[in-house]
Amino acid sequence: MSQTSPTPKPSDADPPALAVSLTVNGTRHDVTLDPRVTLLDALREHLHLTGTKKGCDHGQCGACTVLVDGTRILSCLTLTVMHAGQHVTTVEGLGTPDALHPLQAAFVQHDAFQCGYCTPGQLCSSLGALDELARGVPSHVTADLNDVTFSADEVRERLSGNLCRCAAYPNIIAAVTDVHAAQGAQAAP
Ligand code: FES
Ligand code: FES
Repeated sequence: MSQTSPTPKPSDADPPALAVSLTVNGTRHDVTLDPRVTLLDALREHLHLTGTKKGCDHGQCGACTVLVDGTRILSCLTLTVMHAGQHVTTVEGLGTPDALHPLQAAFVQHDAFQCGYCTPGQLCSSLGALDELARGVPSHVTADLNDVTFSADEVRERLSGNLCRCAAYPNIIAAVTDVHAAQGAQAAP
């Protein structure tokens, strides 16, 4: 006689909505949403900040990269409710058409995009990667963990999670390299 496991009862009851406050690009937002809503969907669907792109929605393309308290994360892989009280920076917070962020200006100068779909994620990721390098955070290709230095290989490795179907990779590396050089020039005595 065959035995079958009891089939779980389907439940269509949604969890209660939760109130969450977070700061996005310097502006505080109070939202009430389903606790299952990802940060990506909250940005795009609730706050109408559509600069952050949804490519794969499961952590494989990097199009949804944003900065949370200065650290880059994939917004499709994290829930909004986990970021209560934190500061989120999206591409809309980097610069404006009249006052581009240096990375945005370098991307334009180096033709570092074609369709542009991956670009918001590339920009946020580049910003995070440059900050990691400045703080001496090693990567998989760092030879000496006590001496983290800028190189094209480091940038390639650190941006390897940001895919570009238009294959603008060499120009993205050139743009990030320029910005790093300019930062060094500014820091020099
Ligand atoms: S949309 Fe998040 S990694 Fe692709
Ligand atoms: S510029 Fe088109 S996907 Fe990167």
